[in-house]
Order: sequence, then C-alpha cells, then structure tokens
Amino acid sequence: MTQIKAAITGIHGWVPEYILDNAELEKMVDTTDEWILTRTGISERHILKGEGKGSSDIGAEAVKGLLEKTNTSPDDIDLLIMATVTPDMLFPASSNIVCDKVGIKNAWSFDLNAACSGFLFALETAAKFVESGQYKKVIVVGADKMSAITDYTDRTTCILFGDAGGAVLLEPNTEGYGMLDTQNYTDGSGRIYLYQEAGGSVKPPTHETIDAREHYIHQEGQSVFKFAVKGMADVAVEMMERNNLTSDDIAYLVPHQANLRIIDATARRMGLDPKKVMINIQRYGNTTNGTIPMCLHEWEHKLKKGDNLILAAFGGGFTWGAIYVKWAYDPVKT
Ligand code: UT7
Repeated sequence: MTQIKAAITGIHGWVPEYILDNAELEKMVDTTDEWILTRTGISERHILKGEGKGSSDIGAEAVKGLLEKTNTSPDDIDLLIMATVTPDMLFPASSNIVCDKVGIKNAWSFDLNAACSGFLFALETAAKFVESGQYKKVIVVGADKMSAITDYTDRTTCILFGDAGGAVLLEPNTEGYGMLDTQNYTDGSGRIYLYQEAGGSVKPPTHETIDAREHYIHQEGQSVFKFAVKGMADVAVEMMERNNLTSDDIAYLVPHQANLRIIDATARRMGLDPKKVMINIQRYGNTTNGTIPMCLHEWEHKLKKGDNLILAAFGGGFTWGAIYVKWAYDPVKT
C-alpha cells in the first residue's frame, strides 16, 4: 500500500499593525536598542491593540487568509488544531472560537500547549490524523498574543515577545512530499526556568497573585538559553543524520525565533550557509507559536517543490523538536 504523508499545501501568516520598537521600549524600561539588538537580534515587534481582542483574532485572520489563498471552503475542513500559550480564556478552547469566527462548522478542533514548540507538536499530531487516511483537510494554527502575559516593567522579558500567528493546510500526499520525519521531546524538570505562575489550578487568580505580578511570563534567561542552544541544535542534527541529509541537501532551516544567537548556533551545528536560514526575529521578536508559520509565510514565494526543510524549536516545559518536510508545491503565480 502507498504510504500517506501529510503535506503542507498552503500557508498564511498574520501580524497586527501596531509596531513596538526598541526606541519605545527604551522609554518604558531601563534598556537600550544596542543591548536588545546584540543580545537578541530584535528591533521591533507587533502588538495586538483593542478591547476584547485575543489570540483567536490573530488565528482567525491567519485561517481566513489560508482558506482564501488555497481556495478552500470552510465546510471541507475536518479538523483544526490551535497551538497557543495565550488562549482567549482557559476554556472553551481558542480553536473552537477560531472555527466559529471563520465559519468552519463540520470539523472538530482542540488547543495544544507546548509553549514555543507548540506549532511543531501540533504539526506532528495533525500529521498522524492525515496519515491515518481518515482526515483529508486539517488546519494547524499557531497564534499568540504574547503581549497579554508580558510584564512591561520587566526589562528581561518585555523586550523579547510580540504577537503574531500563522496557519497551514495539511492534505494527504502519496508522492513522497510532506512531513517525512518528526521528533519531539519534553522534559518537565525544565518547568522551573520558564513559566506563568498564577492563573491555573495551583494558584487561581487572587488580589495577591496580581499584586505579585504572577500572571506574567517569568524566565531565567541564561538557563533557558543554555538548554535551548543544545536542545534545538541536537534535535536538528539528529533529524539530518537519521534521514541521511547533508547541509547541501537542505534548502532551509526554519527555526523558532527566540534569540538570533540560538538560531545561529543551531545553523552552525548543522553546517548550514546563513543564506539557508529563515530569520525574521528582527521584525517580530518571539511570537511563540507564531514564529515558524510566519517564517514559512514570508519565504513561501521562494520555496520549490521538493525542497528539504528542517523545522526546529525549543520552548518552555521544556519542549523541543524538529520536523523534516519535503515541500510539496512550487510558488503560486499571482
Ligand atoms: O522561546 C522560548 C525559549 N526562550 C529562549 O530561548 C530565551 C533564552 N534566553 C535568552 O535569549 C537570553 O538569555 C536573554 C535574551 C533573555 C538574555 O540575554 P543574556 O545574554 O542571557 O543576558 P543575561 O540574562 O545574562 O543578562 C546580562 C545582563 C544583566 O546585568 P548584570 O547582572 O550583568 O549587571 C541583566 O540584568 O544584562 C542585563 N539585562 C539587560 N540590560 C539591558 C537584562 N535584560 C536587559 C535589558 N536591557 N533588556
């Protein structure tokens, strides 16, 4: 029997309009454009403004664009998985809300939380549904309104994060294109370095948790940095080795955008020419589940059928992983 693989057959990304640049951050906390650029590579990030707006609005914009671009009716979608750490609310799932906002009615949907590796975890999950043969059109959305959980009085984290999202359409492929190999990992002992302390069942919101600023991201940057450099590079190299890929065989590394130094270290370990690395952290910062789909969205016009891509991420949890994709289509002529 011919093996079914899950191929990405469309991609669309979306960022809100408002730009928070380093100059504005210099007025908010004790930092400098030079420090931020040299330590992280970030110049600006986009922020979702407006009452009542959440990650589902970002996800819905990405999905709307995806359906239009791929000429797909919302009625034909079987399943939608949304990777997010900033759901609109704890329940219902933001994926349900996205479906409602874009008119997807014949599908089921759920949220998946694997911090910055969420988009990869959701892609692997979705791939299994497609490979089963039962699901023909599956959407994976990665979207985060990180500004909702960012403490703009904490210079160690507020310079890092931005809001964005993207969505891919997955369809069965029997010609050797699509997700050819996946490897994801978790290590819960890393939870002490990167977390949002309050708001869950251990520490429901109280006046005290709010006064202690526990509803914001807490990160021990240096510790996460060390694990991230090793974790992301190790898994990307593992993916190359077990698929017999040399650096010449790879068209692009599509890395999670947390810190330019982590991306550079991963690319060096893979022996990749810097031109083969998708980098847009300078314009968006770390958008958590939005980073990898935003890269694919911006590089889509350069990707050719048969290109080998390695997607790689590292995030809170700890979570990390890599996916080997053989790109399934040439740039669409407009
Ligand atoms: O996506 C999820 C996974 N997350 C990551 O992968 C993030 C990993 N970590 C990082 O990217 C980096 O650790 C950071 C960008 C967060 C921080 O960079 P760093 O080079 O590790 O800096 P550091 O934490 O060692 O801080 C160095 C100095 C400290 O001052 P002292 O103690 O040397 O006097 C900090 O207080 O820089 C200071 N500092 C700042 N100075 C100016 C920290 N933040 C700032 C700031 N502006 N915004």
